[in-house]
This record gives sequence, structure tokens and C-alpha cells, in this order.
Amino acid sequence: MSRLDDLRTEALKGGGEKKIQKRRESGKLTARERLHLLLDTDTFHEIGMLVTHNCYDFGMDGKRIPGDGVVTGYGTIHGRNVYAYAEDFTIFGGSLSKAVADKISRIQDLALKNGSPIIAIKDSGGARIQEGVNSLAGYGDIFFNNVKASGVIPQISAIMGPCAGGAVYSPALTDFVFMVDHSGYMFLTGPDVIREVTHEDVTFEELGGAVAHSTKSGISHFAVESEEKCLAMIRELLTYLPQNNIDDPPQIECIDSIDRSDESLDSIVPSDSSRPYDMMTVLKSVVDDGAIFEIQSGFAPNMIIGLARMDGKPVGLVANQPAVLAGVLDTLSSAKAARFIRFCDCFNIPLLVFEDAPGFLPGVDQEHAGVIREGAKLLFAFCEATIPRITVVTRKAFGGAYIAMNSKNIGADINFAWPTGQIAVMGAKGAVKILFKRDIATDEDPEAKRQLLIDEYNEKFSNPFVSAEMGFIDEVIKPHETRPRLIAALRTLSGKRVSNPPKKHCNGPI
Ligand code: HXC
Repeated sequence: MSRLDDLRTEALKGGGEKKIQKRRESGKLTARERLHLLLDTDTFHEIGMLVTHNCYDFGMDGKRIPGDGVVTGYGTIHGRNVYAYAEDFTIFGGSLSKAVADKISRIQDLALKNGSPIIAIKDSGGARIQEGVNSLAGYGDIFFNNVKASGVIPQISAIMGPCAGGAVYSPALTDFVFMVDHSGYMFLTGPDVIREVTHEDVTFEELGGAVAHSTKSGISHFAVESEEKCLAMIRELLTYLPQNNIDDPPQIECIDSIDRSDESLDSIVPSDSSRPYDMMTVLKSVVDDGAIFEIQSGFAPNMIIGLARMDGKPVGLVANQPAVLAGVLDTLSSAKAARFIRFCDCFNIPLLVFEDAPGFLPGVDQEHAGVIREGAKLLFAFCEATIPRITVVTRKAFGGAYIAMNSKNIGADINFAWPTGQIAVMGAKGAVKILFKRDIATDEDPEAKRQLLIDEYNEKFSNPFVSAEMGFIDEVIKPHETRPRLIAALRTLSGKRVSNPPKKHCNGPI
């Protein structure tokens, strides 16, 4: 008994009191404290506490700490099973020995076999330098497991310290990456190497901090101000997610009235179609209790993605944001939405799409940045998705944007439009310029002629009624009735069972 007690005591000390104290001074929690905060009170059960590394080189023989550089285990979040691990920076800088990698792989295996989410808390100096290729091989095992589990169980990463070199690829392979501001860093090569190779001067924060990755690279989905807030947000995220790909997303009692109508929506779209409005106001008005768990809010904000509930059940929201860049589709917003659509499809979360987009953004930069490929990702994700999919056209649905934003022809189930919807190949001004250039130029009052033609075009196409006549729009609805109409549509689609042709896997433009 006393041997076990001694080993446990030694394991719980981690890298020692001095190192723990240093972390406290920098405002950081220990690996075990993080896990205890993440999971329901007193539910975390550690496994692998007595594992040690097997390295005998560089004086490592005499430096063995039970548990080595990671704490692994399982427990519950909101009463549902989860698996989790936290790298322990106090032990060899949280670096990855083969033993650490084996512990992580074991937890990944258990999570996958038992169909439960896995949460990784990253805080590590990367490959255990003393172990060489053994450590690199360990990363390979982890990446392999990440990919095997992708689309089967939700995988979430939280970056609460350094995450450098190839180590960044495990979080990048998971579904959601949280980063704690001013303490989490991700980069392939650090500022020193960059200075030598490209002569660029950059700080850790500018290069790979939470803000950089949640606004510029888009690798991080959430930048959070503290570790405590980050762990609370992960708990909240999980309330929207099923345990695995064959489980239903969790349902809660809906307190918000399903018949609630909001008259303010009737006037939210400005009469001048070039004026912006905030799509987030529309979304909040429609979903249960106005609660939206927005994802990647700082990245490509011309597209909104997030989770919410309708009728107590999780839904994924994909919406153009006319208040930013007129809601245009571009490389980043297309890729952002595409990945989220695929996530929702993996985990049986129905999609609600709100559309107000003037089209794809023109320009040399966009063409050369691959707007064709990135737009194809969006199309691909929608075409492939077999979950219930509903669209509401609030205003512009022009050209490629009409097709790409969950149109009927790419598999949407029910398509609504508000009376303010404009469904056309392009806006009236552009269309008239192309079609009637000569007529306008030769007219005795070109400006009046131009306006007349614009009005005619608007009358004919800049409304949803032509599309409704043709059946591309199932129903033109009044904005204030959007919530009840969407709930009725979701209810009727709840039995949807569709599958794509059997194949090894698709070959989309990833
Ligand atoms: C072994 C490591 C280590 C590592 C840190 N330590 N990184 N031990 N292997 N990779 C140890 C340090 O020796 C030190 O031990 C303790 O952890 C704390 O480190 P400090 O440097 O004192 O901490 P700090 O000043 O906060 O700096 C943290 C750091 C720095 C920025 C992470 O330690 C660092 O740059 N580490 C090396 C990062 C790196 O190059 N890793 C390899 C990347 S390549 P003592 O005993 O003194 O307390 C890679 C390949 C993966 O990961 C490929 C996958 C495909």
C-alpha cells in the first residue's frame, strides 16, 4: 500500500513544487487542475499515472517521474462521457516522449472505441529531444488516430502553452481549436528560425498567438482571455454536440415559444439594397432564446457560422453577413463555411442557411488566391451534406452565390425567401450595363433610359416571386414568421434519411 501511496504522491507532484510555483506566478493552472475544471466535479479518473519514459540517454535514466509529461483519463461533462488529456509542462516542458505518445494514443483509442468526445489540452515544448525518432514516431501515432477518429467522435484541442513544430498538426486535425490569449502559441518554426531564414522580425504573439490564429490564419476557432473561460467554453460547446456520428445531438427542453414572431424583422432589410444590416440580429431573433455559439467570429467575418438551438435541438448556422464586405463570398469565407458544413454533416446537426450575398468577390488577388478552389469547397460541402438543410434568402442571392449558398439544385430540402429576396444572375445595375450598353448610349436621355431599364429588371428579377413560380423557392415567407416556419420545416425533415453512393472517400478540393 505504501508503495502505491508513494508513487501516487510522486506523480501528483509533477515536475516539482518549484516548477508548479513558477506556473502559478505566470497565472497558469497545472495539467490536473485544468482537467478537474474541465470535467464535472470529482468525475476525472486518471489512467497511466505510473507510466514512465524509457530513455536512458543524456542522463535521462535517473530522471523518471510517474506519469511522464501528460495526464490522461476520462470522466463526464454535463453527465456525458468524455476522454481528455493535458500535457504537463512541469515535466520536461511537456515534451512528447514515446511513453507520453503511447498514453495519448491509448486515450484516443478508448474515446474512439467508446464513441465519446476527446479533449486535448496542449502545453508542450514538442518532440522530446533526448528521444529522437522515438518521439517523432509517437507524433505519427497521434496524427493517425486523429484522422481515424475524425467524423466519428468530436475532437477538441485547447492550446494553453507552446505548441510548436510538427506538434501543431494534432490540433489542426481536430474539429475545434481553442487558444488562450497571451499564453497559447502555435507555429511550425519560431521567431528565431524565421529571423535567420527570412530576416523577418516577429514576436511569439504576432507569429502564433491566439489573435493571429483566430483572425489571420483561421486555424484557431476561439481566442479566449483565460484558461478558466476556455475550459468553460469547451463545456458549453459540448452541449451542442452528439457523442459520436451515430448518436443524436443532445436535446433540451425548449422554453422559448416555438410560435414566437418578431415584427422587427419585417423592416430589418433596408429599402436601399446597397445598405447593410446585421445578419446576427436576424439569427438571434430566430433561434431559441437568442443564444448563438459563434465559431471563428474574428476570421472572415463576412460569413457567420455557429451553433444554436431550434425547438431545443442543435442546429448549425451558416449566414452571409451583409454588414461586412456586403456579405460577399471570397476565399476565406468559403473555406470557413465549407469546413463547418462538413462538421455538421458528420455529426447529424441540421443546417440553417441565411443568404444575402452579392456573389463571389471579383479581383486578381481573389483569382490568384484560388477563389475557384475555395468556392468549390463550399459547393462540395453542401452537395455532399445529407443532413436536413434549409435556406432563407433574406435579400441578395446573385449568381454563384445563389447556387453555392444551399440552393435547391445542390440538395437543399426547403428553401424560403423573404419578400425582400432578390434572386438573379446579378444586380440590376450590372445587368443593365451589360445587356443595354448600346441602347442607353444611343438614347436621347441615357440616364432616364438606364433608370427605366433598371426598374424593369428589378420588377422582373429582383424579387423572389419568379423563383417561387418556378419552384426554386418553396415559399415566400414574411420575415416575422421565420422562426415558426423554420421549426415546422425542421420537424418535418427530422426523419430525413439520404446517403451518397458508396465510395472509398470523396476527392473534394480540400
Ligand atoms: C526535452 C524540453 C523540450 C523538449 C523544453 N524542454 N522543450 N525537454 N525536449 N522538446 C525542457 C527544458 O529543457 C526545460 O527543462 C523545461 O522543459 C522548460 O523549458 P524552458 O525552455 O525553461 O521553458 P520556456 O523558457 O518557457 O520555453 C519554452 C519553449 C522552449 C519555448 C517551449 O523550451 C523551447 O523552445 N523548447 C524547444 C522547442 C522545440 O524546438 N521542440 C522541438 C520541435 S520539433 P529544465 O530541466 O531546465 O526545467 C518537433 C517535431 C515534431 O516537435 C514533429 C512531428 C511530426
